[in-house]
Amino acid sequence: MGNKVIVIGMQWGDEGKGKIVDVLSQHADRVVRFNGGHNAGHTLVVNGQKWKLALLPCGLLHGKPGVIGNGVVIDPHALLAEIDRITAQGCVVSPANLGISANAVLVLPVHRAVEAADEARRAQPIGTTGRGIGPALEDKVGRRAIRIADLAEPDTLSMKVDELVAHHNARLRGLGLPEFDPAVLLADLLALAPRILPYATSSWQQLDAADQRGERILFEGAQAMLLDVDHGTYPFVTSSNAAAGQAAIGSGLGAASSAHVLGISKAYATRVGAGPFPTELAGEQGDLLRQRGAEYGTNTGRPRRCGWLDIALLRQSIKTGGAHSLVLTKLDVLDTLAEIRICTGYRIHGEISDAYPGSAAAQAQAEPVYEVVPGWQQSTMGIRSWDALPVAAQNYIRRIETLTATPVSMISTSPERDDMIVLAQPFG
Ligand code: GDP
Ligand code: IMO
Ligand code: MG
Repeated sequence: MGNKVIVIGMQWGDEGKGKIVDVLSQHADRVVRFNGGHNAGHTLVVNGQKWKLALLPCGLLHGKPGVIGNGVVIDPHALLAEIDRITAQGCVVSPANLGISANAVLVLPVHRAVEAADEARRAQPIGTTGRGIGPALEDKVGRRAIRIADLAEPDTLSMKVDELVAHHNARLRGLGLPEFDPAVLLADLLALAPRILPYATSSWQQLDAADQRGERILFEGAQAMLLDVDHGTYPFVTSSNAAAGQAAIGSGLGAASSAHVLGISKAYATRVGAGPFPTELAGEQGDLLRQRGAEYGTNTGRPRRCGWLDIALLRQSIKTGGAHSLVLTKLDVLDTLAEIRICTGYRIHGEISDAYPGSAAAQAQAEPVYEVVPGWQQSTMGIRSWDALPVAAQNYIRRIETLTATPVSMISTSPERDDMIVLAQPFG
């Protein structure tokens, strides 16, 4: 394995990517965010202290410099609030240890208003995080977005704000909703600019230079493959890509495509927000996983829907995301179960399929087919070596490897940083 590692989610987010990035940061020289925005919520626990990060790369906690790449959409208020919060918690964030791509696109208050209007009008709301991420990315593709670099040029900024606000006001007016005043938005951005601009950098050049020096670079993915706008359970997805390929595009380091890709998956499954979840457990068993796994959104506090591990979808995520090995998290959450189910495929109109169908009508017909394996009914909480795992837990992990034809390189057994079993170190 080499000097670049990409961490991506294999399910519907919240797999524990933040913890894994934090653990791997000790071996990295730099940590890079390349997608999403403050819809992400990454929780780490270090010596009992909880850290919640949304935009900042988790490596900062290990004293490693961070880069927020061009692929991340940035709400400047959320960014500054997070910098202040993390600094107050004892991890100083400054332009000395954080660079933000000058090409990164801004999330503005108008985007939140547009998103709320969109959700209210949908027959089936997506259950977005309400952060304005989708509309900001629509503006990026629509080529009317405001970028970090624009904050340094008041005349350009003024022109762009006018164009962007005019675009959204036309629709808000049509819906009978309050319009935005471009002058207010401009004044707000100009007031924020002096705090944001010192972080602005050419991230592709910064990362290229780091790569030339032989630095170890860790890429921290947000969201996950089943929320990926191309490969996820569309339209119940986020508005960007979560696959490993996005690490190259969203950071400007094209050479990221040679990285070792770690796909993070819980030992079961969760989803927050609406959309298909074939192995979802309603009732007591779902409640048990939610309670044992503390399955409430880091970001919005919403209860997460819980269910069994879906190997058919995991295989899809490994292929579409480009994962070379898997990291299994939250094994300890299954400790009390007498038996565990693994979904290996679906029965659709009496036929067995090992892949999840794409159309909504076929998805509604897809019934999961389960393999039942024995649970271990003893604590794995905090275990740090393979040999200390109960045999039934070892068998569960080996079965996942066999069914996915992918090795498991690490296993996480509690929220704490050091509670990990490392079978293969991803940095070479
Ligand atoms: P991310 O978005 O992928 O970074 O994941 P989140 O931080 O949103 O959610 C994962 C949650 O699980 C966090 O509260 C973590 O502290 C917690 N967590 C991570 N790994 C483990 C583990 O192995 N066991 C348990 N019980 N909790 C874990
Ligand atoms: P991390 O990085 C879990 C979900 C939302 C919603 C859908 C669209 O913590 O794993 P959006 O606000 O992105 O337009 O919402 O995507 N979602 C996440 N779910 N973890 C995340 O990030 C998520 N980011 C977005 O709940 O269903
Ligand atoms: Mg999360």
